[in-house]
Amino acid sequence: MNKETRLNWVFKPLVHAAALGPLVWLIWLGLGGQFGPNPAEFINRYTGDWAIRFLLIALAVTPLRGITGLALVMRFRRLLGLYAFFYVLLHVSSYVALDQYFAWGAIWQDIVKRTYITVGMLAMVILTALAVTSPKAMVKKMGGRNWQRLHKLVYVAAIAAPVHFFMMRKGFQIEPLVYGGIAGLLLAYRAGVWIRAKARTRAARADAQTA
Ligand code: HEM
Repeated sequence: MNKETRLNWVFKPLVHAAALGPLVWLIWLGLGGQFGPNPAEFINRYTGDWAIRFLLIALAVTPLRGITGLALVMRFRRLLGLYAFFYVLLHVSSYVALDQYFAWGAIWQDIVKRTYITVGMLAMVILTALAVTSPKAMVKKMGGRNWQRLHKLVYVAAIAAPVHFFMMRKGFQIEPLVYGGIAGLLLAYRAGVWIRAKARTRAARADAQTA
């Protein structure tokens, strides 16, 4: 067994266990009848919270590698992104089944009329496209450049998710602002890397012209 396979064997189960922990806890609370007076709202909010957390955790992987130099973390980026999608699916399913009782007409009205649902839906559509195109075979099929271009949409989802949260809570509340702040820092890091890379290419081009 080579080093790479060994590391996967050790860390992958740990990532799965940590990522499934919130779901196990939710089931545990349900079995104990601890969802409070409004179980549908409890489940919707709980899964929404974990969806946004995993989205931000997945987005933090590249900056973490950049800052610490720890290349190992990059192997779990895709998995963490898929867990963000998994919790979003649970979140939206709870809304569709427990909140709206599959009333598709009412759901459509919500999507068009309630801006925070429209914004949530935008993030959901993006994460779905990213999850569907995440297998290695899809990267090959689409071509690396197109795949990368599509996956840049994660930044739009990273903005839409805290906006959805902020609008849903109404008024000034600290929690959505904290998530928004973290998303802002992660995006600022990416922007910094992009600007530096552009400046380097420009300088290299200028050097080549003067040489
Ligand atoms: C990436 C996509 C999404 C993320 C990350 C997300 C996340 C969240 C978060 C963090 C909350 C607040 C939870 C709390 O108060 O603690 C929330 C609330 C809510 N979300 Fe989403 N959401 C997403 C997409 C959607 C979509 C597509 C829908 C519906 C079609 C939706 C419906 C709702 C509803 C109805 C609430 C409010 C629940 C209530 O009033 O108690 N979300 N969401």
